[in-house]
Amino acid sequence: MRSRLSLTVALALLVPVLVAQQAEDTGEAVFAQYAVASDHELASQAGAEVLAAGGNAADAAAATMLALGVVGPASSGLGGGGFALYYRASDHSMHYIDFREEAPGAATAEMFARREGDDEQTAANRSRAGGLAVGVPGEPAGVEALIEQLGSGRVTRSQIVAPAMRRAREGWDTTPLWERFSRWLGESLRADPVFGRWFPRGSAFIPSGHHVDNPALARTLGEFAAHGAEPFYRGRVAREIVRQVRAHGGVMTAEDLAAYRVAVREPLVAEHFGRRWVTAPPPSAGGVTLLASLGLLERWLPPSLRAEDSVYFRHALVESWKGPYTDRHLYLGDPDHVDVPTAALLRGERADQRARVFHPMLAQPTSRYDLPLDTPPRRAARPGGDAGTSHFCVADAEGNVAAVTTTVNLPFGARFTAAGLVLNDQMDDFAREVGQPNAFGLVGGAPNLPGPSRRPLSSMSPTIVFEGDRPILCAGAAGGSRIITATEQVLLFSVLFGDTAGEALARRRVHHQGDPATTSYEEGMDEALVDGLRRRGHDMQSLDHSAVVQVIRLVYGEDGAVTQIQAGSDPRKGGRPAGH
Ligand code: DON
Repeated sequence: MRSRLSLTVALALLVPVLVAQQAEDTGEAVFAQYAVASDHELASQAGAEVLAAGGNAADAAAATMLALGVVGPASSGLGGGGFALYYRASDHSMHYIDFREEAPGAATAEMFARREGDDEQTAANRSRAGGLAVGVPGEPAGVEALIEQLGSGRVTRSQIVAPAMRRAREGWDTTPLWERFSRWLGESLRADPVFGRWFPRGSAFIPSGHHVDNPALARTLGEFAAHGAEPFYRGRVAREIVRQVRAHGGVMTAEDLAAYRVAVREPLVAEHFGRRWVTAPPPSAGGVTLLASLGLLERWLPPSLRAEDSVYFRHALVESWKGPYTDRHLYLGDPDHVDVPTAALLRGERADQRARVFHPMLAQPTSRYDLPLDTPPRRAARPGGDAGTSHFCVADAEGNVAAVTTTVNLPFGARFTAAGLVLNDQMDDFAREVGQPNAFGLVGGAPNLPGPSRRPLSSMSPTIVFEGDRPILCAGAAGGSRIITATEQVLLFSVLFGDTAGEALARRRVHHQGDPATTSYEEGMDEALVDGLRRRGHDMQSLDHSAVVQVIRLVYGEDGAVTQIQAGSDPRKGGRPAGH
């Protein structure tokens, strides 16, 4: 009896250790009431703090976003932009706030075209660093819209800003990613007053575990707490943004900032695999690509091949992306400036026709999946890292769910700051020239050329999946062109295989973006899967990781109440969820 008791006690002591251990390995933590899964523990905690104070998922999303901008400035911040998808439980309504950056009024279709004497790198760099690379930031207006349109009204703006401001003032410790990026970007960061103070004296990089702060950003956050987005578009911060952008060779004006507004859009909605998928509309290519791929998979995967991972399953996934990624550069752009034929691209008959190209044993060239619409595409000539983005999910105790992806594009954006904030280099998401690839190898298409007030095409794919009228999954990712395929896989692993949040994140992923004609797979993927795909004719290339996904999975009891909130922060970046 005695020994049995002590065994029980020992197990009880051990279990939390094992759970903690498991959480460390899979990035998953389980909560009962509310949760935030972001790619930085301190940002998840900022959101959880606001939920604990009585805020809802929108308030918490705002707090998480502001805190991410402080502790993860390589990935997102008030100098960037993004998309927020929101489910409001009280009336079962969906909301979508597009706070993507806009091109300045002086932007032209040729602004990034190769100039005489340019080598390839010089031409590409113009849209990736420096003043011309910067789009008019949307995040201040996005955070404000989340709070004002969807917030609970139970917490003040100052309460929402407080965790981020405290962190900016008191400092935080850098992660290994900082060391990697600062070694890579080195000198180009040091000249900036904010980045420069993060390099220890005599060091050529910012070491991991180094304590840094950002008092200039703390002051700017104080202005957001007091006045909302106004100072960023008409006040001191706006003046500072224009001054810095122009000093770095950009063309942005005070009028460009004053004219910025968020766009409230209808998210895309479709039924696939017995679930309702709600996802990002243009100017993201994410939702169109995701839904087109799911439509094909539904046709190719008989029920007997849906329940577990297999070579056939991965083969079908890879094949399903080739056509939609081709559609992307031919047809997609900013719907407020070009005609985007979303409905025609997603028509069932078109999926039927494309589905017939599929061969179960043999990879097909991307060109075989090319399926021009009746309206002729604006055809492109054949064309020739990650961490600039951050995705998080919030689920609150009232049943609201927020899926937010926010970005400065490449690590540390355009590599300079204004008023403590990192300015984005989102202009690289436009087509520099028709047929030229962007930093993620995505081919530039005519509908996505830059122009005044246009928003560049994006891959960001905040998505919420419903079963009946209940949200069951929230996900999205960072990782450029791989955002869409990674988000889709994590969601499908959970929907079809029944994976928990942690299991879905742990499974290795594949990726294909139509062009180049290679299938990439994550290191550590089951050799039998890799070999099987190779035997089907896929040109397999390994990569160290596919993208960084944050996911929340909601589990319901028989009475319809949530019994578990599984919150997963992708171990590929080392974030950690928070909640209660
Ligand atoms: O909007 C987009 O698709 C890109 N600006 C995303 C960039 C990205 O994910 C960088 N890496 N994590």
